[in-house]
Amino acid sequence: QTGYFTYDSGFAATGACKSDITFIDGGKGVLLYRGYPIEQLAESSNFMEVTYLLMNGELPDAQQYNDFNHLISRHTMVHEKIRSFMKGFQYDAHPMAMMMSVIGSFSAFYHDGMNVNNAEDRKMAAIRLIAKMPTVAAAVYKNYVGQPFMYPQNKLGFTDRLLHMMYGVPAEDYVISPVASKALDLLFILHADHEQNASTSTVRLVGSTGANPFACISAGIASLWGPAHGGANEAVLNMLDEIGDVSQIDKYVAKAKDKNDPFRLMGFGHRVYKNFDPRATIIRKACHEVLEDLGIVDPQLELAMRLEEIALKDEYFVSRKLYPNVDFYSGIIYKALGIPVQMFTVMFAIARTVGWTSQWLEQYETPDTRIGRPRQVYGGAKTRDYVPLKNR
Ligand code: SDX
Repeated sequence: QTGYFTYDSGFAATGACKSDITFIDGGKGVLLYRGYPIEQLAESSNFMEVTYLLMNGELPDAQQYNDFNHLISRHTMVHEKIRSFMKGFQYDAHPMAMMMSVIGSFSAFYHDGMNVNNAEDRKMAAIRLIAKMPTVAAAVYKNYVGQPFMYPQNKLGFTDRLLHMMYGVPAEDYVISPVASKALDLLFILHADHEQNASTSTVRLVGSTGANPFACISAGIASLWGPAHGGANEAVLNMLDEIGDVSQIDKYVAKAKDKNDPFRLMGFGHRVYKNFDPRATIIRKACHEVLEDLGIVDPQLELAMRLEEIALKDEYFVSRKLYPNVDFYSGIIYKALGIPVQMFTVMFAIARTVGWTSQWLEQYETPDTRIGRPRQVYGGAKTRDYVPLKNR
């Protein structure tokens, strides 16, 4: 029961909460967004359509889809003082540190006049966060590479707008790669929501206090940053770098199995999936397609595939049902798209803002939601009397 706690705020004794958004069957490797299998959405939908679905519960018709894209595109710019605030960071500040700080600062720019008890205000706060995350993320990237920030081009779609703000420069036109656009949009779909993971639970817990949504999402970004969670995609590439080549795999697999060694195979294992993470299967296929389309031969992909092959034959991993998760292959695609490894978790945060805000909204619409108040299993001292200093 280590770490077991119960909520006394309308949550079940399992520490679970009620949600209608995403369903996972960890034993069968099933992931549904509002009832639609992730495989079908990955194959046939796009990130803005999935965003509408997660927020509203149904797929949009053509008019709803156009109106939604227009609404998002009207909120892509950030206050000019936020751009100045961002210029205060060192060039090598970790992008997730900047994201957490800048989104948290939205509380000072966009929170006044926003009433969390007003449904329309709540919806607009969610729209603003989803629309502005790419603008802030691209500016974080520009700060890192020392180039001027780019303004959003609202005539572009969500993913193309991000690519333009990241890789475009004022000096010349930027031609968006359809391969990069398609691959990034797919990764955003796969990362959009995932039931009550650590960062979403963080957002819900902070939200249950009535805190403003910008503070809630900043807390979610902080939680996602951890290498056991969203930070794993960055950690996977650093791990592959450390392993170096196939000849070292056995040594690192042995380290991962050694309880006295803190090393774990990053990108492997999952608290819920005790079967393949369906997202990993989709990303693995996309990895090959992207590298082939871009004409890239990445030795780290070969290394990752050999590592997966060896680990999945090893009794330690098989007996513990440790399979590759969503983070195992995603970094190889990000790297192929020219995204620096420090930005990988920022990409995850852009997508997961949709799940975080959808579940933050849902909490307000769920009757009898009360403040989250985890309990504990107490193992400390029994009641005892105070001993004055002179007697100690
Ligand atoms: C994400 O919750 C979500 O939905 C998250 C996420 C999302 O979309 O929001 O899916 C995104 O965070 C994916 C996970 C990314 N993290 C990593 O890839 C980091 C490496 N993985 C591990 O840190 C670990 O697998 C966790 C954190 C993901 C899960 O940790 P748990 O719940 O402690 O793992 P477990 O209970 O299933 O472990 C069972 C056993 C333990 O050993 P024993 O005590 O039984 O001997 O497996 C071992 C663990 O020590 N183990 C590993 C391992 N993961 C678990 N051993 C070596 N390498 C690993 N990666």
